[in-house]
Amino acid sequence: MVMLLQLLHAEGKPNIFTSHTDEYWRLVRKGVAPAFSPKNIRKGFGHVLQVNQQLISILEDSAGAEIDLDNATLRVTLDVIGRVGFGKDFGATRDLNSGKANLAFDMMEAGMHLPANHELPLPSVKQGEEDFKAFRKIMSDMLVDIKRRGEPPETDTTIAAHLLRIRDPASGQPLPDDRIAAEAGVFFTGGFETTGHTIAWALFMISAHPEVEAKVLAELQALHLMPSAAQPQPRLMTYDDLAKLTYTCNAIKASHYFCIRFMFFCTPLNNA
Ligand code: HEM
Repeated sequence: MVMLLQLLHAEGKPNIFTSHTDEYWRLVRKGVAPAFSPKNIRKGFGHVLQVNQQLISILEDSAGAEIDLDNATLRVTLDVIGRVGFGKDFGATRDLNSGKANLAFDMMEAGMHLPANHELPLPSVKQGEEDFKAFRKIMSDMLVDIKRRGEPPETDTTIAAHLLRIRDPASGQPLPDDRIAAEAGVFFTGGFETTGHTIAWALFMISAHPEVEAKVLAELQALHLMPSAAQPQPRLMTYDDLAKLTYTCNAIKASHYFCIRFMFFCTPLNNA
């Protein structure tokens, strides 16, 4: 927890993830909740399709080459959160090998793999502190960009717009900038590995079980979302399709269970 506080704020001040008692917790919790309504998630679905289309193009162009799928799905996740939640395209999925060129992706990766014990005299701890600083700068630079757009119009349902609209009832003032930047960081750290690894694991687990894979493909084919002899060019998925993909969603949920168990199991190994 200390690590998360330091990742998100230079002085380790609290945020929605770390404190239920802090003065702003309830305000932030209530303030951002509407961004996650089904109506607003539906609005962001176009970005999900566009980011995935970038990945599909790369996969098509590199047919036969080895692809680190987990790296790819983490990038998709970063870009979707950036675009849907903050109106910011980090472009991490445009090039799956963008190393230092994609600072945001590097920082997310580095921040997540820091040894939990900050007292350890390890070079990675020192490096981790630098990475934390760089991550916080990415968040505060993003906030500057967002504020440059001006007051968010009512139609803006991003997480960013909801954070900017929050007012302290006592003073009528918006949240301090350092708090908004820290809260923005929460959504990236909270959604990055959780969702990215879940997708990679789901694909791995489904491909490892041919009988499950066949049923997933059949479900997609029935909705014309897979190429077939009759329809070589599948149609684009819509948000409403998600509710119809019951078997596929259950397969993802089952894989997710293994993914979470694996993540917890491996944490001490990652941190060694
Ligand atoms: C497979 C994906 C995900 C998993 C497994 C996951 C898991 C969790 C868990 C276990 C908690 C703690 C709940 C509690 O304290 O009772 C949590 C909280 C949270 N997650 Fe996620 N999460 C996922 C995706 C996301 C995404 C995509 C975002 C944002 C874009 C996100 C943002 C948050 C936030 C802000 C909280 C704190 C909520 C609060 O304290 O009110 N998570 N998540």
